[in-house]
Amino acid sequence: MLLSDIDNMNEKFTSDDSNCAWADGLASLWDDVNRHGYALTTDQALGLPPEFTPNFREAYFNGHYLRHDEGDLPRDRERARDVILYEWDDDGLHVEEYETIVITDRSGIKGPRLHNRIEILADRGARDLVERLLALVPPNRRQTKGTFGVNFFRTFNDVVTKPHRDEEEFIIIYVLHRDGDGAETYLYQDDLGADEQEYLSPVLKHQLNRGDLIIFEDKAFLHEATPLISPPSGKSMRDALVCSVDYRTTYLDAVRLEPPQHHA
Ligand SMILES: [Fe+2]
Repeated sequence: MLLSDIDNMNEKFTSDDSNCAWADGLASLWDDVNRHGYALTTDQALGLPPEFTPNFREAYFNGHYLRHDEGDLPRDRERARDVILYEWDDDGLHVEEYETIVITDRSGIKGPRLHNRIEILADRGARDLVERLLALVPPNRRQTKGTFGVNFFRTFNDVVTKPHRDEEEFIIIYVLHRDGDGAETYLYQDDLGADEQEYLSPVLKHQLNRGDLIIFEDKAFLHEATPLISPPSGKSMRDALVCSVDYRTTYLDAVRLEPPQHHA
């Protein structure tokens, strides 16, 4: 199963040495996810060229795409979003833009929400990134068909509000840039329940730097990140792509509600 999957990946992303190394590295990453519930990797280990991360950030993390939506938390977060429909079959992975990005009753915010959409699959490099990110899910854990949420988050102070789950199957965080320190990612084993967070000890405490990624199984942990710490002269800021391998209930089997109209 693993070997044939690596062969498929080698065929899909043929050619250079970095892709071969990536396909080989995938097996140990999948093993980490299956054994521990999470795995750390990097843009280069993913087979992305060295210039990919800064170029991708420049293309999408800007005032043209990102905006702050009223009611969103943390209060100063700027964001954009895409949702992709994916399907694994004998020919490999197929992706297309999903019909809607409306999300309902998430992150402690009631009702349907609509953020600014970036249809990233039109961009070949972004499409390649999406395929590589979806390939991080171990083959034995993949749904045949599902949705993949792609969130572009720019945060300045608090990265998140508190330890939480996103109520999805897997979460992938890819940090593209950080000014300042802090923003350490924590994963907590949650044997005691969310009301007893003071008794939780972290399974992982790790500062993701530019080009670093983590994938984890959402239900296995509570996750959070510490606040950013401003550099001596200047303002702190972090740009990250936070993706979710969704449960069917998020979109495919969801009851569709209309979002409120956004007023700029
Ligand atoms: Fe989260």
